[in-house]
Amino acid sequence: MHDQASVLRILAKKEKSKMRVIAVTSGKGGVGKTSLTVNLALALAEYGQRVVILDGDLGLANVDVAFGLIARYTVEHLLCGEKTIEEIMLTGPRGIGIIPGGSGVQNLANLDRDKLSNVILNLGRLEKMADLLIIDTGAGLGYTVTNFLQAADDIIMVTTPEPTALTDAYGLLKTLRKEAGEVPIHIVVNRVRSENDAQATFNRLETAVRKFLHGSLNFMGWVYDDPLVGCSVMQQDPLGISFPESSAYRCIQWIASKVSGIYQSPPRQAGGVKGFLNKLLRSF
Ligand SMILES: Nc1ncnc2c1ncn2[C@@H]1O[C@H](COP(=O)(O)OP(=O)(O)OP(=O)(O)O)[C@@H](O)[C@H]1O
Ligand SMILES: [Mg+2]
Repeated sequence: MHDQASVLRILAKKEKSKMRVIAVTSGKGGVGKTSLTVNLALALAEYGQRVVILDGDLGLANVDVAFGLIARYTVEHLLCGEKTIEEIMLTGPRGIGIIPGGSGVQNLANLDRDKLSNVILNLGRLEKMADLLIIDTGAGLGYTVTNFLQAADDIIMVTTPEPTALTDAYGLLKTLRKEAGEVPIHIVVNRVRSENDAQATFNRLETAVRKFLHGSLNFMGWVYDDPLVGCSVMQQDPLGISFPESSAYRCIQWIASKVSGIYQSPPRQAGGVKGFLNKLLRSF
C-alpha cells in the first residue's frame, strides 16, 4: 500500500513540481472522455502548455488510436524495467506526449519495491517534460481509477444529458465524496443540443449533490453534440486537427481556456454570420 501511495504521490506531487495532474473520468462509459482528453490536450497545447496524456483506460488502447498512432510499448514495459519513459512515450501533434497504459496501468497500483524505484525515477523525469498530465481513466470505479482520482489535482467528470449517464455520474460522485473528498470536481456536459440543455443537466446533478451529499460541483462547461466528432474518430485524426472550426472543438477550446486560467466567453452553437441571421430571423 505504501509503494502504491509513493507512485501516485509522484504523479500528484504539488509542492516540488508544477506539473498539474488532471484526471478525466465518467460514471457511464462511452460519454466522450477520450474525445475530450485528446482535444483538450490539443487546445491546451495551442495555449502553449506542454501536455502529456496517460491512457489509463484498461480496456482498448484509445488515445493512441484517436491520434492515428500505434503504440509499441506500454507502461508494462516501464514497470518491468525494459524501457524508459522516453522510450514508451509517443509524440502526437503539437508535441503532445502520449503514454500508452495497456495492462501496465493496473500494476502501477501494486508494485514490488525493486520495481518502484525505477518507476519513480521515470515519472520524476516526466515532471520536467510537461506542465500538465491528463489521465484518461476508464469509466466507473475500478480500483485503479479510484487511485488515479485520489492522486489528481483536479477531476473532470464527463456526462451527457442522458438520464442513465446522469445517474451513473451521481453514483460516482457519491463514492468519490468518501474516496477523494478533497479533490475539486469539474463537470463537463457533453453532447448537448443547446446551452439551456447543458445548464439544465448540470442543475439536475448539482441539486442532487447539494441535497443528498451536501457537496458542491463546479460547472466547467459543455460540448455540443456534433457529427464532426464521429467523423474525426473514423478518420483517426483528432477533431482539433481535422475540424478545428467545429462547434464541438470551439467548446473544448473554451474549456481549455478555463483550465489554463484564461477567460473566454462560451461559444455559441452557430456563430458568425449564420448565427446572427438565425437570431435575426427568430426575432421577427
Ligand atoms: N460532442 C460529441 N458529439 C457527437 N459525438 C460524440 C461527442 N463526443 C463523443 N462522441 C461520440 O461518442 C463516442 C464515444 O466517445 P469516447 O470514445 O470519447 O467516449 P469514452 O467515454 O472515452 O468511452 P469509453 O468509456 O469506452 O472509454 C465516439 O464514437 C464519439 O464519436
Ligand atoms: Mg475512452
